[in-house]
Amino acid sequence: MRIVVLVSGTGSNLQAVIDAVASGELADVQIAAVGADKHGTYGVQRSAAAGIETFVVNFKDFADRGEWNHALTEKCLSYAPDYVVSSGFMRIVGEEFINAFDGTYINTHPALLPSFPGAHGVRDAMAYGVKVTGCTVHIADAGVDTGPILRQEAVAILDTDTEETLHERIKVVERRLLIATLADLAAK
Ligand code: GRF
Repeated sequence: MRIVVLVSGTGSNLQAVIDAVASGELADVQIAAVGADKHGTYGVQRSAAAGIETFVVNFKDFADRGEWNHALTEKCLSYAPDYVVSSGFMRIVGEEFINAFDGTYINTHPALLPSFPGAHGVRDAMAYGVKVTGCTVHIADAGVDTGPILRQEAVAILDTDTEETLHERIKVVERRLLIATLADLAAK
């Protein structure tokens, strides 16, 4: 199974996938490329260091969101992936992308969807005062963090948590769920 992974940040979840491919845990998964929406992400750097092909479709280089979305869609299609995985990719993709990867665009989110969608899922859960949050791996549709849920797991919020400590604990679970989801999909 070929995947393209999209990142905007450090790509620590991506690193877990790279490691799982290397160790044979995800023996049937090939990371065809890793792409970002801006220059200088650590996610792209660490992928290049691992010998994986990388690309940047820099949001700021395009006149509008539609043109950027078109370029991203074409670039991802060029790798003929079975799945595209958003692993901390912080841009909303448009209809053209969603149609091109209908049912094959996977997203991870650091909250128990449909609660706390959006860019600040961890912060918003803490601000609301819920005692349990978690993470979700789902097929992304045209909405923001919506679409059929594949895997989900709860993480307790501790009185001593900061946004950072909670997000770190969530990411430990998120990595495990993402790898398990990819293993499921590769086995189909
Ligand atoms: C993850 O929690 C992801 O769900 C969120 O951003 C985090 C990505 O972290 N949207 P990293 O770039 O994999 O370290």
